[in-house]
Amino acid sequence: MTALVGHSGSGKSTLLNLIPRIYDADSGEITIDNQKIKSLNLHSLRKEISIVDQNTTLFDDTIFNNIKYAKPDANNDEILSAAKISMCTDFIEKLDDKFQTVIGENGVKLSGGEKQRLSIARALLKNSKIILLDEATSSLDSETEEKIQKAIEELTKNKTTIVIAHRLSTILNSERIYVIDKGSVESSGKHDELIKNSSLYKNFYERQIKNN
Ligand SMILES: Nc1ncnc2c1ncn2[C@@H]1O[C@H](COP(=O)(O)OP(=O)(O)OP(=O)(O)O)[C@@H](O)[C@H]1O
Ligand SMILES: [Mg+2]
Repeated sequence: MTALVGHSGSGKSTLLNLIPRIYDADSGEITIDNQKIKSLNLHSLRKEISIVDQNTTLFDDTIFNNIKYAKPDANNDEILSAAKISMCTDFIEKLDDKFQTVIGENGVKLSGGEKQRLSIARALLKNSKIILLDEATSSLDSETEEKIQKAIEELTKNKTTIVIAHRLSTILNSERIYVIDKGSVESSGKHDELIKNSSLYKNFYERQIKNN
């Protein structure tokens, strides 16, 4: 688990988007297992990557089909299991038509936390080796927060995860933290090292992470 932290507009999402080649880098090279991503075809690259955030693209279709989208040949059990592990079942059971509920254009009938859990359900179903995670900045109630945390733990087990981190627990669980500032890496290391060596990180930690 690698974490990216930095102020709004510093370039964290841009950096993450370079990996599935939503944009290509103007210079430098990104490699996965020594393979240049520019030499892979988009389909085989993206097959190995799941993006988890609150802005996941949802269709005006049923919850069931929205999860299934991540793996069109998935069977019922696989979909129910992904919904359960991602803690989606809790909110799905409360809907009138359960899994057959139509969620509206881009999931307008769902909250941010619910959309994020659907995004986790999709990623679980896809079971890719790389997880790109954008933690929510919007505050969720502590119960939802805890559910999402658990779902993310399940999802990222034995996976390569790069996370735009806003929570202290995520940061402490990361092998390495990169502090992003004005489009560059300002410093990197573990939490304790950065507190000592990076005034930018220390400042960021005190203002934005400590109380989260
Ligand atoms: N598609 C785009 N085209 C041009 N500029 C962009 C585009 N997307 C973002 N930017 C700009 O690039 C900079 C970095 O944006 P980015 O979204 O990577 O920041 P961020 O670190 O993810 O911020 P936040 O914490 O608010 O999500 C910002 O100045 C932003 O305005
Ligand atoms: Mg961002």
